Amino acid sequence: MHILNDIKELRSTLKELRRQGKTLALVPTMGNLHQGHLRLVEEARRHADLVIASIFVNPLQFGPGEDFDNYPRTLEEDAQKLTLAGCDYLFAPSVGDVYPEGQENQTQVRVPQVSEGLCGQKRPGHFDGVATVVTKLFNFVQPDVACFGQKDYQQLAVIRKLVKDLDFPIRIIGVPTQRDSDGLALSSRNAYLSDEERKKASGLYATLKSTGQKLAAGNHNFHELTHQARARLAELGFYPEYVEIRALDLGPARMDAKEWVLLAAARLGKARLIDNLVVRKGE
Ligand code: PAF
Repeated sequence: MHILNDIKELRSTLKELRRQGKTLALVPTMGNLHQGHLRLVEEARRHADLVIASIFVNPLQFGPGEDFDNYPRTLEEDAQKLTLAGCDYLFAPSVGDVYPEGQENQTQVRVPQVSEGLCGQKRPGHFDGVATVVTKLFNFVQPDVACFGQKDYQQLAVIRKLVKDLDFPIRIIGVPTQRDSDGLALSSRNAYLSDEERKKASGLYATLKSTGQKLAAGNHNFHELTHQARARLAELGFYPEYVEIRALDLGPARMDAKEWVLLAAARLGKARLIDNLVVRKGE
């Protein structure tokens, strides 16, 4: 795997690849890679001749008091994992490369509606930071395809709308959430859990599943279902931030729909965990 550390090197490499007619899939990450990221690389390989992963801990998407400074940076191990996963290029720019005029003076991209509510409400400005860096990565790399995990359901919705509204000729592929054997969704932030908390953490997915079963079986009292799910999470030792039932496009849930998405965010110790579950009527 070739490591590209700056934009100039990236541009000259990509120019040559395009001249050869190669198609390119991008896997944007913030590093500290786990099996979920490697699954994105695997999926990317199915859709293009070459795969380029990016590792960039994007300061613009962290709010004050969030974990930007402590976010695990493990570039060497990540590069080894990507090589084994068959990734062709790693682009790992510096903050100065991505935001040469400083973050304060950076033009930002805001994706209305889907960025609001859920994590957008709890983390003001977060999705503007994501949309801005993803726009920059799309412009740097100009991939044919880009892969993102479905664990970050709202982020995926933001990126799909961004691509549609700004006419990027890029196909977005959502890749199913990878889970540990007890159901916990893989996330770099699981590293913040103590052993004790790790045992409890599977309760988030278990709560989504039991709520999803009631919804699928015909209980359409959304308020009662989400209230009960929050109470269950609190009982298990979480500090629930939200549990919501929405339409798949994140619009309001309708009782006469055939499918919905259940979304939750909850704190457990130092970790903020998010997860979601698509529920189909009668399943
Ligand atoms: O999902 C992530 O890791 C990040 O939000 C992303 C998409 C790489 C943008 O920084």
